[in-house]
Amino acid sequence: MKTKNVARVAIAGFGGVGRATANLLLSRRQRYREVYGAEVRLVAVCGSRSGLADVGGLEPESLDAFEPGLSGPAFIEASGADIVIEAGPSDFRTGGPGLAYLRSTLSAGRDAIVISKGALVHSGPELRAMARSTGATLKLSGAAAAALPTIDLLENSLKGCEVLEILGIFNATTNYLLDAMMNQNLGFEEALARAQAGGFAEADSRNDIEGWDTASKLVLISNFGLDADLTMDNLSVEGIQSVAAHDIEAWRKRGLVPKLVGSLVRAEGATRAAVGVRTYPLSDPLAHVSGKNKAIRITTDAMGETIAIGSGTEPLATAAAALKDLEHILTARAARATGCSGGLE
Ligand SMILES: NC(=O)c1ccc[n+]([C@@H]2O[C@H](COP(=O)([O-])OP(=O)(O)OC[C@H]3O[C@@H](n4cnc5c(N)ncnc54)[C@H](OP(=O)(O)O)[C@@H]3O)[C@@H](O)[C@H]2O)c1
Repeated sequence: MKTKNVARVAIAGFGGVGRATANLLLSRRQRYREVYGAEVRLVAVCGSRSGLADVGGLEPESLDAFEPGLSGPAFIEASGADIVIEAGPSDFRTGGPGLAYLRSTLSAGRDAIVISKGALVHSGPELRAMARSTGATLKLSGAAAAALPTIDLLENSLKGCEVLEILGIFNATTNYLLDAMMNQNLGFEEALARAQAGGFAEADSRNDIEGWDTASKLVLISNFGLDADLTMDNLSVEGIQSVAAHDIEAWRKRGLVPKLVGSLVRAEGATRAAVGVRTYPLSDPLAHVSGKNKAIRITTDAMGETIAIGSGTEPLATAAAALKDLEHILTARAARATGCSGGLE
């Protein structure tokens, strides 16, 4: 039999994002073969109460035939997956169902790609330590602003530099709402109703509007990009819920553009982090991050300012961010395989 390098992937959480990730992964199998010499098999997928598994690899046309009872960390573990993509609901107050999947995956030394923020915000340092102790890889691009590169910039593009400040427009919904209030003369409620009708604001969008989603991403970028130990309790968090028509009018008159910004400043060993509305003159690139786009500005000691602006259509963009993480894992495995034969069959 021809020797081949096999990566077995399972996806826990099969809503819009989990399904998009599965379809994109299956459509890229030829690429994984050609670039990494890896046979990537999707061996299991599950929702909250049902799922599917096939050790030989699922195909796109089989993804609708879910069987009841096939769900949970034990099911994913039994599937033989060595890479678990976690795409379930996010709850940073409890960790959500993702926490049990990640503990089971990382404690066994399997690699995890995380798309939902909850477990990582709730128990990030614990999961990070678990991954380090078992040698598992823990990647989270999909959770940390997805199509906008954040942790990748810190880990790769700015490697070796000391990060002095991070500023980010991390939440698409609030950026859209502020943009609509400024440029379409909409009141807050009207803008929110439009966003909800367009499907890019959730029916209960308090997490976005009150700044918690931005705060969650800031915690993840800080803890996983800068190796900090930030918790939600360390942040001062203000959303856009109290932005009124007279604020909009005043900013317009002064030529300022409001943005909901997550900020992190590091000085003399201390880190200060906050979420709130800031205003920018039109000469600032952040003033031009419009609609559902996101952005990050990182200031370092040696490379000055780096700005990235990201767009992308959901859920494809988030799926692609998660599969970028998969390619990081395949790259590392391919490098290891040149020195040993582990993982070959
Ligand atoms: N949508 C985006 O653009 C986007 C972007 C970045 C990050 N995210 C994050 O990605 C995650 C998924 O988003 P989504 O839009 O796909 O959500 P969704 O459509 O609500 O799907 C959530 C999925 O999780 C499943 N689930 C619930 N409890 C579970 C459990 N105990 N075990 C396994 N699966 C369970 C649900 O199964 P049932 O159907 O059986 O209930 C459903 O399949 C969320 O955490 C979200 O915050 C989303």
